[in-house]
Amino acid sequence: MTTDLAAFARGLPKAELHVHLEGTLEPELKFQLAARNGIALPEKTVAEVKQTYKFHDLTSFLQVYYPAMRVLQQAQDFHDLAFDYLTRAHADGVRHAEMFFDPQAHTGRGVAFDTVITGYHSAVVRARRELGISAELILCFLRDHSAEYAMATLMEALPYRDRIIGVGLDSDERGNPPRKFADVFARARGEGFLLTMHCDIDQPDSIEHIRQALEEIEVDRIDHGTNIVEDDRLVELAKSKGIGLTCCPVSNSFVTEQMKSAELSALLDRGLTVTVNSDDPAYFGAYAADNYVALARHAGLGIEQLVTLAENSFRAAWLSKARLDGFLAEIHDYVAARP
Ligand code: HPA
Ligand code: ZN
Repeated sequence: MTTDLAAFARGLPKAELHVHLEGTLEPELKFQLAARNGIALPEKTVAEVKQTYKFHDLTSFLQVYYPAMRVLQQAQDFHDLAFDYLTRAHADGVRHAEMFFDPQAHTGRGVAFDTVITGYHSAVVRARRELGISAELILCFLRDHSAEYAMATLMEALPYRDRIIGVGLDSDERGNPPRKFADVFARARGEGFLLTMHCDIDQPDSIEHIRQALEEIEVDRIDHGTNIVEDDRLVELAKSKGIGLTCCPVSNSFVTEQMKSAELSALLDRGLTVTVNSDDPAYFGAYAADNYVALARHAGLGIEQLVTLAENSFRAAWLSKARLDGFLAEIHDYVAARP
């Protein structure tokens, strides 16, 4: 990897489609919010916080991830979290971000839905005005809780429908198939939301979950979904439906033993709309451009493939045709201006 390719990847206009706002909580902001809200933390330094980042699978990651969120209390806290992320993303060439948030991780500990959405939405508005970056919010249901609780959360979100572009599904996938939430996603579709869901890496039923997401839920996109490479029929189905996969190479290397670069590169070669994203960048130490660079290094990708990944990120985004064409033209100009 030459520095040139890394600089090229950073400046390349791109969309980020798989980032959990709660996963962008850097230790420094965690300390600031804890002080502001009078919360005592067991860790006293950034190094001590990072010492707790020992993950070997999705479950061990989630055990560190959820407790950290208790520092988020006021709308201003949610605002600061999202605005800090959008500032970093902007510096990484991100022109458009579709960002997950987990309302149940907050309402479940007594923070009002309105507080969460007010804070996040105000950051979206400010980032558009001050940074020129466009952003959308995707409400994720926690799949290790009941379908009834997810439905109640969807009902709570309806008054804020104009601030939320779609719904997703995250948290612990084991024993929590897409089908469990069929009614919730059908209702969300009926209310005008776009649909995505996590099909995490190397889960016990990865292929069956991908099949359910595509054939039963009829999602518009899949988050991760890399195991699809094991099933030719599903690869062809996803291609024929124009389904994008929001892949996260560095995240993969934390929750499995590898980045899955060979699988991602095979899917790219087969013409699937593979995109590259950060997932939980504060925990995995890599923002959007770092993920492009890491994948390029591990899969031996060149400029042409990085450009395809960036184009795919806008093709898989929930954008109007006019805005998609505008972003593709930006990529074209960026490449043409390269010395
Ligand atoms: N998978 C499931 N749940 C999550 C993730 C993920 O990648 N990141 C944050 N919550
Ligand atoms: Zn994720």
